Amino acid sequence: MKKKWWQEAVVYEIYCKSFCDSDGDGIGDLRGVMSKLHVLRDLGVNCIWFTPIYTSPQVDNGYDVADYRNIDPAYGTLEDFKKLLDMAHGMGIRVIMDMVLNHSSDECEWFKESRKSKDNPYRNYYIWQPPKPDGSPPNNWGNYFREGNGSAWEFDAATNEYYLHQYSIKMPDLNWEYKPLRREIYNMLHFWLDLGVDGFRLDIFTRFKKPEGFPDTKKAPDLLLDRNGFVMDPSMCTNVEGIHEILHELYTEVFGPRDCMTVGEGAGVSHKNAADYVGALRQELDMVYHFQLSHRKLYSISTEHFRTVQKNWAEVLRKNAWAVQYLSNHDSARQVSCYGCDDERYRTDSAKLLATLIHTTPGTPFIYQGEEIGMTNVKYDTIEDYNCCYTVGDYHAMIASGVSPKEAIDLLAPRSRDNARTPYQWDGSENAGFSTGTPWIKVNPNYTHINLEADRANGDSIFAFYQELIRMRREDPAIIDGDLRFLLDDHEEILLYTRACIRQTLLVVANYSEKNVHFSIPEELENSSWRRRLTNKMDTTPSMGGSRDLLPWEVEIYELAR
Ligand code: NOJ
Repeated sequence: MKKKWWQEAVVYEIYCKSFCDSDGDGIGDLRGVMSKLHVLRDLGVNCIWFTPIYTSPQVDNGYDVADYRNIDPAYGTLEDFKKLLDMAHGMGIRVIMDMVLNHSSDECEWFKESRKSKDNPYRNYYIWQPPKPDGSPPNNWGNYFREGNGSAWEFDAATNEYYLHQYSIKMPDLNWEYKPLRREIYNMLHFWLDLGVDGFRLDIFTRFKKPEGFPDTKKAPDLLLDRNGFVMDPSMCTNVEGIHEILHELYTEVFGPRDCMTVGEGAGVSHKNAADYVGALRQELDMVYHFQLSHRKLYSISTEHFRTVQKNWAEVLRKNAWAVQYLSNHDSARQVSCYGCDDERYRTDSAKLLATLIHTTPGTPFIYQGEEIGMTNVKYDTIEDYNCCYTVGDYHAMIASGVSPKEAIDLLAPRSRDNARTPYQWDGSENAGFSTGTPWIKVNPNYTHINLEADRANGDSIFAFYQELIRMRREDPAIIDGDLRFLLDDHEEILLYTRACIRQTLLVVANYSEKNVHFSIPEELENSSWRRRLTNKMDTTPSMGGSRDLLPWEVEIYELAR
């Protein structure tokens, strides 16, 4: 069946604030992006996802939107954005916008109006509840950023009611029960489509619907992090009955008629419920990315886990749905530091191996800026250097429960979202070539040797390997259409799988470890003739017969000769 453009695409996520600063104020901007678009074209990607670039007080780096129809002045103007759209489209690159529709900023005009009085026309754009008789919040929910006293409700003296904020106090939740709010959102989405954007990434869409009556959570508090008995329990507002009605209406009012691409951030979505959101006949979303592979609490993947998740999602694809493949984004640590090996010896090899896994399994690959040059985690010494609301909130909660500052940083640093948000490392010049001013967040000191220029100077670069993988996606039908089948199903270090369609069979073999591994090629493969197409160890001899060794982090792609 003819595929949709987004099924064949490779999406590149741009965290604008950290990408490229054109005017020396230390903040990445749209002109900076325009100056680097040719790099993305060379890489071969054909879709950009912009994290939010709307006007925002930047409490959560743009996920707190103050004006949904404008660009934040730090990033540029609407005119700049239109220019960027034209440039990108001219290069064959589509552009999708991040839409934050679970909450806005408290500096959004809607909220400013809403909090004024109970009979304000915007009152019901947000979720207001009276205090309990003793004046306390309506229930025991905690906020994700652990702000204030920990509650997910903030009291507003102007009207003597509480408003709900699952995230920051400055990010009140929107009320999807209220039809005029929905209409406002639909009109705003059409505004961006009229401008020429090609689709949307929907922030935290599984949490739009709240449970009726706002019942208390029964979950026990996390003694280290939850404060004053307010418990952070994602299950209270995730996948609540009625969420499908909201998404279907979004589809019929906007996504369907405009034929735009949608990808949702699927907190609470697994292979079990994914098809309810992205099954083609559901008329809700096109794709959803899940957290089953890159689990942010565990940050480790075993070969067994990889096989299980991929097999489960291959089943989702069989239900007339599609998948996303990714290992990291702006909310995670750097993939090579978590799932690969970021020491000098194996950083390049493991970066290439991880890339291969994502680009050769079924679905659309999403690249996060910097992974194509193997950027790594950073570690700052003091909390003042960190910016991420989770890191800062958790740090203060830990200090309050008696943890020492050093211990708290040691615990939080490897997981901090700031790992992904350090400025892009363009070259070895001051501030990694990101800015001539002082970057809003400190550059990773390893920029002197890990940077795009240094990587590309090497013929065997990570960037070149990504280019090759992306070229294969364009030219090799099995990458998009092939059925997935694992062999050596119990092997602890080796991943071996085929992707086979009528026109082609590809085979991937990877040593997902730091050891030299000796193993036997399954007999059924031995009788065929395999041609090696890509490897991260150019000086090894291809072999798909007998038994053989794979070097640490070695990966190869073969094609079956016909
Ligand atoms: C998910 C976004 O990816 C993250 O960066 C943000 O903090 C939360 N949603 C809240 O909008």
